[in-house]
Amino acid sequence: MGELLAMLYDPLIAPLDPMGVRRWREWVVRAARGRVLELGVGTGLNLPRYRMSQSVAAIDPDGASLRRAMLRRNGRGDGIALQQARAEELPFADEAFDAVLGTLVFCTIGDPARALREARRVLKTGGVFRLVEHVRVENRLIAGAQDAITPLWKQIAGGCHLNRDTLAAVARAGFRVRGTSRHIGGLFIGIDAIK
Ligand SMILES: C[S@@+](CC[C@H](N)C(=O)[O-])C[C@H]1O[C@@H](n2cnc3c(N)ncnc32)[C@H](O)[C@@H]1O
Repeated sequence: MGELLAMLYDPLIAPLDPMGVRRWREWVVRAARGRVLELGVGTGLNLPRYRMSQSVAAIDPDGASLRRAMLRRNGRGDGIALQQARAEELPFADEAFDAVLGTLVFCTIGDPARALREARRVLKTGGVFRLVEHVRVENRLIAGAQDAITPLWKQIAGGCHLNRDTLAAVARAGFRVRGTSRHIGGLFIGIDAIK
């Protein structure tokens, strides 16, 4: 994201909290069990939600965001290990985690299919994969607008795509989707899956 976006990220996203984002973050973190991996942790907005005893590894390629996440982590104990890495090349062994989680991250990952393969590789069989994402809506008019705006939007919003079908990508990657929830006219989706 770079220094400026990392600095602006928290105040820019805060207005979405009362619209549901705060609640959906809590829903994602509730899936935390055993050893947890959070993908694209960003500035660490989910970190205060993990139990103190929880063992969490969290990755993000953006150094400026990670520095902010480190400040958040330092306020709350040492069960959280932050590492600079891309979801497409996770620096972890096969089946290392009991849960892999992410919020608002598959919109930005450069190669989502590859990242999903990696997420599946590092997750134990039977492990939980839970996401909240903003996605391409089903309404064709709005979806068309999302397609039209995305080329410009991703230039100014750190690579964020407004028009991804993350649910289809998760299913294609071989996860078993147990449940989904759609919010704000399908703009946001919660995905609960297992390996
Ligand atoms: C919209 S922000 C979301 C941050 C955080 N998950 C949240 O909910 O506030 C997207 C994040 O994805 C990260 N990201 C971009 N490319 C990535 C990749 N290839 N692998 C993992 N994370 C990536 C960005 O650096 C950024 O922190």
